[in-house]
Amino acid sequence: MDRHDFARALARDAGKLAHKGFGTSTASMKGTHDVVTEMDRAVERFIRDAIAQRFPRDAVIGEEEGGGAGDHLWLIDPIDGTANYARGLPRYCVSIGYLEHGRPLIGAIYDPSHDWLYSAARGEGAWQDGSRLAVSPIDAMNAATVECGWSTRRTTDDYLALLGRVMHAGCAIWRKGSGALGLVDVAAGRSEAYCELHINAWDCAAGIVIVEEAGGFCNDFFAGDGLAEGNPLIATNAALRDELAATIGIAVALR
Ligand code: IPD
Ligand code: CA
Ligand code: CA
Repeated sequence: MDRHDFARALARDAGKLAHKGFGTSTASMKGTHDVVTEMDRAVERFIRDAIAQRFPRDAVIGEEEGGGAGDHLWLIDPIDGTANYARGLPRYCVSIGYLEHGRPLIGAIYDPSHDWLYSAARGEGAWQDGSRLAVSPIDAMNAATVECGWSTRRTTDDYLALLGRVMHAGCAIWRKGSGALGLVDVAAGRSEAYCELHINAWDCAAGIVIVEEAGGFCNDFFAGDGLAEGNPLIATNAALRDELAATIGIAVALR
């Protein structure tokens, strides 16, 4: 089994475990509007144990236990969308990304509420179960929907200014509480862009590969200290790439 197959199977198994505590796992606060449940920690441990057994020399960084970088690196978010998960809202996922020498190569994202598995490997396309994913062909801002991710890591004024730019440009907006699922919505053509003024690497490593393999574009998220400190993020379709990047104010990397 190669790392892509391994990541897909692991995301699904971890998601099945997570779903056992959906809406019921004991929750506490890590910070302002930053929820963690007992299941976040249990699922991260489950994923780490599986990687350690199969690829013992690989490095792992996860949201709950941290970790250090390596040339063969897994970036895991055991539950992305924990605030939804803890409230029994069925929009959350397990996100598993894999990087080699700093380059994201594999992404697997499992949505247990719908039993949807998304995955991509560099050069092999992006898939939702057996169906190939492709970004939206929409090329008019006044027909575009943009998800603007939010956390308290940036100021309210900065977030309101972002919403203002996107709405004044004619787009509709969403904020649905899972960065990883926001990215697969772009890959699946359900929205034209996902953006966030600051997001962490475990939230988006998998989703970036899936968006790019679906024909979309992202910024160079891992530039600078993105791996350790996070960075701004934009993921867009091809038709609106330049206009959306200018509106949102995050430069998109050209491939
Ligand atoms: C958060 C979600 C949220 C995004 C935040 C993330 P968590 O992750 O993805 O949608 O806006 O930046 O921190 O806490 O649910 O794993
Ligand atoms: Ca997350
Ligand atoms: Ca999380």
